[in-house]
Amino acid sequence: MDTPNKQTLILSARDVRSILSMKDAVGAVELAFAEHARGAAMMPPKVYLSLDAYAGDFRAMPSYIGASADAAHPAAAGVKWVNSHPENPARFGLPCVMGVYVLSDPATALPLAILDATVLTAARTGAAAAVASRWLAKPAPKSIGFVGAGVQARWMLDAHRVIYGDALEIVAADVRPEATQAFVSEHCGGRGRIGSIEEAAGCDLVCTSTPGRTPVVQRAWIKPGAHLNAMGADGPGKQELDPAILDAAVVVIDEHHQATHSGEINVPIAEGRYREEQLFGTLGEVVTGKRKVERRADTITLFDSTGLALQDVALARVLYAAAKARGVGTAIELVG
Ligand SMILES: NC(=O)c1ccc[n+]([C@@H]2O[C@H](COP(=O)([O-])OP(=O)(O)OC[C@H]3O[C@@H](n4cnc5c(N)ncnc54)[C@H](O)[C@@H]3O)[C@@H](O)[C@H]2O)c1
Repeated sequence: MDTPNKQTLILSARDVRSILSMKDAVGAVELAFAEHARGAAMMPPKVYLSLDAYAGDFRAMPSYIGASADAAHPAAAGVKWVNSHPENPARFGLPCVMGVYVLSDPATALPLAILDATVLTAARTGAAAAVASRWLAKPAPKSIGFVGAGVQARWMLDAHRVIYGDALEIVAADVRPEATQAFVSEHCGGRGRIGSIEEAAGCDLVCTSTPGRTPVVQRAWIKPGAHLNAMGADGPGKQELDPAILDAAVVVIDEHHQATHSGEINVPIAEGRYREEQLFGTLGEVVTGKRKVERRADTITLFDSTGLALQDVALARVLYAAAKARGVGTAIELVG
């Protein structure tokens, strides 16, 4: 027997940024949704470790994805260990969220890579929104609005460029003027402008990524034929949209347990304002053709995203392959 390779590749946030291609991220995430619908993946529920004494929490997100049908990607397993410590910036000068991903070979359990998961999370979140727009939005949308112009908004814009190029008009709204200013001047390449939340919500594509618990987008602001990516609500009690938007829209979720527990629909369901039977299906069912949205000119579609561990493992294996191909990262013998 050959001497086994026992090396683990360490990839910093800088390494991940240097090898990340949004086109590949969109492809990886689309595949993850498809594999979820085909039952070719495993994803136990997230585990939460709440540490009130430290004003923070950890989440463990394990998953397994089989080899891709075209054999371009081998099977992979992994876990994301990610936190939320809102007081970090003020108290310790550290980010609120920091993530680490451990990617393993499912056949041998060798840890193939340990990588920064902060960039990974933002990229796979942006990619999910773009995949949803690709499958649910009307053809050739002209404008895209961002309600909340923070970290996720930037990655959503980059991912949408993979699908639509630079043709979209961009409207950015945020409660912090400095956030919209930075978003428009640094990311929009001359196609963007600052607008009110109403104007951003009135675009053909609407991406919401605010962390709040009271709706910020009203039903009356949504145009007939619009598609919304509701990304901000990813925890119990979080909510961004007037529930009347849910009634008016074809609502597609990422995964049933997570969406009902912590997605945009969680509060309206808990309040008896929205029924699970109103849901159309999952994005994976749409991507695999199991369910098809019959879109009319005035149909409103909505993707309710909570963020799946499968998106992480699908992108992590692509990043690992890219790092190996390009000689990026530091290989060490980590396990004894
Ligand atoms: N669905 C997913 O997979 C997923 C993944 C990552 C993050 N998230 C969630 O997305 C949300 C945003 O994350 P982020 O990393 O972009 O945070 P961020 O802090 O970088 O950006 C959020 C922005 O929303 C703005 N904002 C807050 N309240 C607002 C309001 N009422 N109206 C308009 N703007 C408002 C803030 O000023 C900020 O600029 C969070 O709730 C986070 O938990 C979801």
